[in-house]
Amino acid sequence: RKHLLSVDDVTSDDIATLFATAAEMHDVQRREVKKLPALRGRTVINLFFEDSTRTRSSFELAGKWLSADTINITGKGSSASKGESLRDTVLTIASMGVDALVMRHSASGAAHQVAQWVDAAVINAGDGTHEHPSQALLDAYTLTRRLGTLEDKHVVIVGDLTHSRVFRSNVACLAKLGARVTVVAPPTLMPSGVDTWSAEAGFAAAYDLDEVLPKADAVMMLRVQRERMSGGFFPTGREYTVGYGLTRDRLAVLGPDVPICHPGPMNRGLEIAADAADAAQSLILEQVSSGVAIRMAILYHLLAGEGSQA
Ligand code: CP
Repeated sequence: RKHLLSVDDVTSDDIATLFATAAEMHDVQRREVKKLPALRGRTVINLFFEDSTRTRSSFELAGKWLSADTINITGKGSSASKGESLRDTVLTIASMGVDALVMRHSASGAAHQVAQWVDAAVINAGDGTHEHPSQALLDAYTLTRRLGTLEDKHVVIVGDLTHSRVFRSNVACLAKLGARVTVVAPPTLMPSGVDTWSAEAGFAAAYDLDEVLPKADAVMMLRVQRERMSGGFFPTGREYTVGYGLTRDRLAVLGPDVPICHPGPMNRGLEIAADAADAAQSLILEQVSSGVAIRMAILYHLLAGEGSQA
């Protein structure tokens, strides 16, 4: 399989294989094994036109720990800031001889477009409001490690769904793993056409968090993406928190065994209270840690040739 542009690019069997490989990568992450030689001689370019802390650094570490040569290019520090087009930028980079481009861009569909221009494997590290497949894979991996299986588990996803590529990739990924998913948002941040879409994709959409939360086996809070809302958003501030935040009161309703996820970065005090983010049942830092293992597995399966050893 050449690219990872969307969760549609992986089957449930592929996901099981990725999870098994990721589980083996934790030895490297614990530094019990310093590096694996699997991608020696391969070159991975992280090309990020939007800011990132977790995704970019974890793909860089993943490549390095598999012995690939990795470099980072950002929109602000590249000739894109002088007006060079996306096509000229990626063709220039590809001409240097690269095996994979890990790419983040503000335009939905950018990674799909780039995959048609270059021979390298393209990994979508977030395209606009469209998809973030490696995030969904690491979220599902983290939850699977905690819950044993996602089959018939009820995962509740809450937040600014209109602007969330994480939500779009997660509903697709969780469905492949047999989870039941309910998404919750204020009407103003629920994607248009959600009724038709949810019926086709097999998830439920709801507007009353307090009705849904007691039935959750896991809850995933999503960030209010203020940078994508030029005209502000509604409900705002305290109103949003009262209606849709994982507050201290809602944490009590959830009970101590229900895992809490957030892909980060968090707006503490807006969509998630510090008590919830830092609770014993929070998997937020485990998501980050699992993200390196999953991204090692992704790079390994896309790039390692015959005879490579993980
Ligand atoms: N979850 C996520 O994509 O985080 P970054 O923007 O920090 O990469």
